[in-house]
Parts: sequence; C-alpha cells; structure tokens
Amino acid sequence: MHSFRYIQGRLHAESADLGALATRHGTPLYVYSGATIRDHYTRLDGALDRVDHLICYAVKANSNLAILNLIATMGGGFDIVSGGELFRVLQAGGSASKCTFAGVGKTRDEIEYALREGIYCFNAESEAELRYINHIAGELGMKAPVAVRVNPNVDAKTHAKITTGKSENKFGIDFDRISEVYSIIANECPHLEIRGLQMHIGSQLTSVAPFVEAVNKVIPLVQEMKAKYGIRFFSIGGGIGIVYKQSLDSGTPDWWTQEGEEAHPLTVQAYADAVAPLLEPLGLRILLEPGRFMVGNAGTLITKVLYEKKGAAKSFVIVDAGMNDLIRPTLYEGWHQIVPVEKSTSTETHRADIVGPICETGDFLAQDRDITPVSEGDFLAVLSAGAYGFSMASNYNSRPMAAEILVDGKEAHLVRERQTLDDLIRGEHIPADKCETE
Ligand code: LLP
Repeated sequence: MHSFRYIQGRLHAESADLGALATRHGTPLYVYSGATIRDHYTRLDGALDRVDHLICYAVKANSNLAILNLIATMGGGFDIVSGGELFRVLQAGGSASKCTFAGVGKTRDEIEYALREGIYCFNAESEAELRYINHIAGELGMKAPVAVRVNPNVDAKTHAKITTGKSENKFGIDFDRISEVYSIIANECPHLEIRGLQMHIGSQLTSVAPFVEAVNKVIPLVQEMKAKYGIRFFSIGGGIGIVYKQSLDSGTPDWWTQEGEEAHPLTVQAYADAVAPLLEPLGLRILLEPGRFMVGNAGTLITKVLYEKKGAAKSFVIVDAGMNDLIRPTLYEGWHQIVPVEKSTSTETHRADIVGPICETGDFLAQDRDITPVSEGDFLAVLSAGAYGFSMASNYNSRPMAAEILVDGKEAHLVRERQTLDDLIRGEHIPADKCETE
C-alpha cells in the first residue's frame, strides 16, 4: 500500500496536506509516510511467519534517523554498508547485535568499530577481506562473526547498474570457490567465527523467478556449510521491486492490485509463497535485506514549478528540485510518476521534460512526459522517491540539501532541517598563508 491520496483535490500523505507542508517548509521537500513503512514491514514480516527470520532493513535506501528509529521500534535489524551507517543505526536506537555489515571495501576503522559495537555479522566479499578481519579481530583479542557473500551468477533481469549477482559484478565470491573459502576460514582464521552465508542478486526485481533461481542454486551450499560448520543463518538479500506507477484516488485499495503497465509487480505474498517453502526445510534463520520495498513508495519529493519554457524541439517545465535531490532518473533511467499537488481540473495534456536548475543536460526528473497544464508556483509531487532519493542527494552546484518530513497520521514531523548556506561551507578552510606572487 501507499498512503498518498487526493482528498478534495489536494494530495495528502496520510492526513497531512502536502501543499500546506510545502508552503510551510519550502521546497524541495521530502515527505515520508510512517504508516506506509509500518505496513510494508508488517506485510513482509507476516508473509514469512512460517520461517524463522529477521528483516535487516538496507539502511542505504533511506538513512534518516527517524526512519531507522521507526524500523528499530518494530523489531527490525539493519543491513549496513559503512561505519557511518552503523553510527546512524546506533544514534537512532537500533541495536548493533541486529546489524549485518555488507560491502566490498570495509576499512580497518570500520571493522574495528563494528567489532567493538558487537555487530551480528560481517558479510565478507573476498578472501582478502576475511583475512583482514581475522587479523584485526586477533589484535583486539576478539572473535569476528562472519558470513561469506556468494555470487551465484544469476541474472536478476534488472537495470545493469543495480544488478549484483553476475560473475562480472564486483560483489561476493564466485559460487565455485565458496567451499574452499569456508575451509580457509575454518583452518586458517582462528579469530573468525563462521555464522552464515549471504547473497544479494540485485535491486528492483519485478519477478520472483530470479530469486527462486538463486535460492535454489545456493541451497546445496547452505546445506553443506550447515553440515560442516554449523552456520546459523542464510541471508537472501534484498531486491524486492516496487511499483512506480500508482493510483492516487481516495479509496483505492492496494496499489499492487491495479491493472495496467505494471499490473504484476512482485508482491510480498508472491515472493514469500515462492521462497518460503524452499527455505523452511533448511532449519536456519533467514535474513532479508529489503531497502526499496520498505521505503520507496513511502516517500515523495515535493518541488515547485519555477518557469515554463517552450523550445524549438521540446517544452520544459523547470522546477526547483534537481538531480542533486533525486538522481535516479538520470542515473538509472528511473521512471517516477509526477503529479500536481493540487489536482488539475483539465483533462488536456501536453508533452514536456520536467527539469531541474542544475547545469547538466542530464538534470531531469522526467522526459517526454504528458502532463496537465501547470503554472509557475505550482507544487508537483515526484512519487515513490522514498528509497535512494535523499540518501543519494548531494550538494552539487552548491545547492543546500532538502528538508525531510515524516508524517504520522495528522502529525508532520520535521526530521531533517533544510541545509543553510553556512552548512554548505562547514569544515572548509582558506589557507591562512596566502601564496606569494612573484
Ligand atoms: N543488500 C545489499 C547487500 C545491497 O547491496 C542492497 C542494495 C540491498 C540489500 C537492498 O536492495 P533493495 O531491497 O533496496 O533493492 N540506488 C539504486 C539501488 C542500489 C541498490 C544497492 N544495493 C536505485 O536507486 O535504484
């Protein structure tokens, strides 16, 4: 489900009027719905209730403290990919003992930090990394819990930039080498404790088939590692895709029952029905690392129309949010639905590119989009922007980053202040000794 609806012609997040929020807090503005996140967590949790499992939310999708806190409160764990993400989880009230640590390039500082905080497991991606973790744990007089990420060489059938489970991708260790690597850990790494096995084949998967293929392929390895080393968990990663095209009329039931272009999204029920029967007999704890599924449809980016411009070849609607606020359209050809915050009464549409103020041709939120007429000052809502939206934002073109709001029923909480101009230069210094001119 999602919680964005037109109520009397005005777009709301739950009971909060998005136009009023944009007027009060300015734009660009990210607004999240707490109810949607809770609903998604509960659905996934419920769909997998027949297997012992832990949802480790992929923090990279949206790392705002308020969202992490909401997930921690629901009992969730976290999949982190940096010391910074661990810090955020701890600041948000999450527990290190429910954190898995992914990523191909963990540094010494990050490994030490995670060890001292007592994370649940390092998901290691190379033999060199395993030996390094072993070395550091030895120095600290500790034992490091580890799992190995297997690269199952399965095509996730998603965008090339977010596919991770093919041999040519940098992630994980080749399927054929896994047995050998576990035996190296057991025989040559006294400061490691084998705890599990992990995989993650890609993001925004819209069909259950690649998951099933990968799980089926990896299960014999899991069984072998359980028999030989007593592993306790199997993490099947994240990747559940979401619907980017939604219905916003009041009373619409679930977005995933709608007809149309994306009528058969990967529902959690379909996902669970396909994988749970394969996983249940393993008798292990199953970890999931959903990011986008949890927060994607829970967020919108509100932006204001600045100008309209008709060129010889195209029309442009120029708005105040750019690729620094939401990079998905230009980086992954990501398609985001864009709707007026105040519903248009007109049925006529014209075709335009919706572009930001940044000096790059790639700075667009939508291209060749049929939209109802807009006027300067109108607010537009870029939907399904809760995942990999703010978390990938930057200060490019020296643009302060947007504010973020978390809605809970009628209440709207400012969960991140808009950056100021002073924030932009914080930590920068002009060298005191000026260069001498000759
Ligand atoms: N686990 C691992 C090890 C990952 O690398 C990722 C995502 C996830 C879990 C969560 O995947 P999800 O459930 O969100 O699909 N910025 C891109 C997506 C990059 C995904 C990176 N890894 C986008 O905006 O489409």
